[in-house]
Amino acid sequence: MSRVTTYLKTTARRMVMSRVGKNGIDLSQLEKVPDHLVWPLHRDGFDPTPRIAEIREREPVHKLTSFLGMNIWMVTGEREVREVLADTGSYSNDIRPFVGRKGSTTDGDIGGLGFTDPPEHTRLRKLLTPEFTMRRLERLRPRIADIVERQLDEVERQAAATGVVDLVPTFAFPIPFLVICELLGLPDEDRDTFRQLGSARFDVSYGGTGAFGAVSDSRKFLMEATRKQRSDPGEGLIGQIIREHGDEINDFDLGGLADGVFTGGLETSASMLALGTAVLLDHPDDYARVGNDPSAVARTIEELLRYLTVVQIAFPRFPKHEVELGGHRIGTGDVIVCQLAGANRDGRLGQMMDAFDPSRPMSTHLAFGHGFHRCVGAELARMELRTAFPALARRFPDLSLATDQLDYRQLSIVYGVESVPVRLTRAAAAV
Ligand code: HEM
Repeated sequence: MSRVTTYLKTTARRMVMSRVGKNGIDLSQLEKVPDHLVWPLHRDGFDPTPRIAEIREREPVHKLTSFLGMNIWMVTGEREVREVLADTGSYSNDIRPFVGRKGSTTDGDIGGLGFTDPPEHTRLRKLLTPEFTMRRLERLRPRIADIVERQLDEVERQAAATGVVDLVPTFAFPIPFLVICELLGLPDEDRDTFRQLGSARFDVSYGGTGAFGAVSDSRKFLMEATRKQRSDPGEGLIGQIIREHGDEINDFDLGGLADGVFTGGLETSASMLALGTAVLLDHPDDYARVGNDPSAVARTIEELLRYLTVVQIAFPRFPKHEVELGGHRIGTGDVIVCQLAGANRDGRLGQMMDAFDPSRPMSTHLAFGHGFHRCVGAELARMELRTAFPALARRFPDLSLATDQLDYRQLSIVYGVESVPVRLTRAAAAV
């Protein structure tokens, strides 16, 4: 079975697993995920598949298909996406009514928050948000700078023999991984074990079982870390929540919340660093500017976030009552999928939205979502990206891609690339 199919099965199962559990729908149906369901995840290099734009021009709210008895609607218009994501009165994120499942809301995935409605969502999110204020995040800024410099040393070390190095295992993956360890407050001695879980989880070559095993292992690991910190709370997010709200949350839920942060923050930021480097190397003037001109950094990174929109779709939304959206009447029992990558390229937003252009007037984008479930880690992600890209461009001003064919992930909710081989110097390329 190809890695793509395995990955697809894994992500599709993640999306619907809880939903189908007790309804008796045979999971083996997902052995072959129908293309009419998943084609909006296809990309053409950095771009969403052209079909998305065609549909958006015609019908920003479009009935994609019916699957497992549900009508699935795809929203690609920017205005319409914001309308859905902002309206928790009309749309629910809670998948449990579909499965009749009760119990803990934090089921060990980013979905811990993303698949939850108020008041549970409000309660859990309130525990997290103080850890993501700029004041708390400032504590991490020097650590992030240090982590980035050390990884750049590693890039240099690994390139010493041939001049070529893959930036995914040396730069894109370890930076967000180590930053999340700092954020959560995991002791140094536990990080290697945790790193292996992180790699297994996102390495689709392990297949669905491997990935799911790693999911529950990482949650178990974080529950154990939480249990240890109960008696001796550390400096990070886990310790801080225990200190301030320890009696409001048990180890299972706090471990799940931490695991949600881990899932939400690792693959997304790693993809931004990997793909973002590839985009910048395609635009050498912008790459140089990010290294030389501090005033260009924020807008270049916002444009990278918009242009790449690595989280291609938002969590599914379920209408709580019949709604009218984009001229369609959509009923309860239907599912709405907001296609963020397409919405961020909506022609109603400006000129040539398919181009990467950091000089365009800065406006808000949907790469972090919108509304109540908007990414809790957005400012942390920005801090990482605004530290890592300038440092890379300063250290290796002559960096260039060592391939003309990147190995993009074919079908995944978080778009990415398997490797980014680069040459550190142009001179080395000529040798
Ligand atoms: C560039 C990196 C990132 C991108 C593009 C990104 C994008 C997103 C998007 C699109 C959503 C969902 C919005 C929705 O369905 O309404 C989300 C939610 C979330 N993200 Fe991020 N994210 C990034 C980094 C992070 C980081 C660094 C963390 C934590 C360390 C994080 C934690 C979360 C959590 C916990 C949620 C669920 C929020 C909720 O449901 O209330 N993300 N993110």
